[in-house]
Amino acid sequence: MQIVNSLKKRRTYYNIQKELPVPIEKVIELVEEVTELVPDSFNMKSSRAVIVYGEMQNKLWDTVYNAFEGKVSEEKISLFRSGSGTILYFYDSKTVSALQSQFPAYAENFPVWANQASAMLQIAVWSGLRELEIGASLQHYNPVIDKPVKELLNIPEEYVLIAQMPFGAIGEEPAQKEKEDIKKRVTVIS
Ligand SMILES: Cc1cc2nc3c(=O)[nH]c(=O)nc-3n(C[C@H](O)[C@H](O)[C@H](O)COP(=O)(O)O)c2cc1C
Repeated sequence: MQIVNSLKKRRTYYNIQKELPVPIEKVIELVEEVTELVPDSFNMKSSRAVIVYGEMQNKLWDTVYNAFEGKVSEEKISLFRSGSGTILYFYDSKTVSALQSQFPAYAENFPVWANQASAMLQIAVWSGLRELEIGASLQHYNPVIDKPVKELLNIPEEYVLIAQMPFGAIGEEPAQKEKEDIKKRVTVIS
């Protein structure tokens, strides 16, 4: 199955480089298409993706490094800065609030669903990038970086940062994962 083959190739790539094997437009097209195709609760369309690349990629990771005031190692941050770009995933809290007002019985669930919808978007993009021979990883430096990153990129105040996905040309394949006994986690009942 195409989806299984795609997911098999997706891994966490820490060794990424600037020169992409495809034009950046391909990445932009992928993110746009996948954002439109991925479902969300009540079709609320709360997910937001911001693609950062070029010189702004370096500025972004400098900003992340500075936000931690030396508590995160320069070596770690330079892994991500070495990539071609980073996709930032947000949800729009205004969209979520509107649905909360419209459906008060589900009010508590909407932020959870917004996160879940973003996760669906993240895995689809992560696998799609790998199909383009681009490696990526998923990082969570939020909420420490929220304010300076929003200032740097002029992101609307109501956007809630969920994850950061640095991507780039594949420098090195990660070590193979051990095959697990999946029956411990998947139950079949008839
Ligand atoms: C919800 C979620 C959060 C994650 N957060 C981080 C993170 O903050 N930093 C990181 O380096 N990897 C993060 N990862 C990557 C996982 O550690 C990685 O996917 C897992 O170990 C399996 O390895 P693989 O991606 O190579 O298959 C996250 C993955 C998921 C699904």
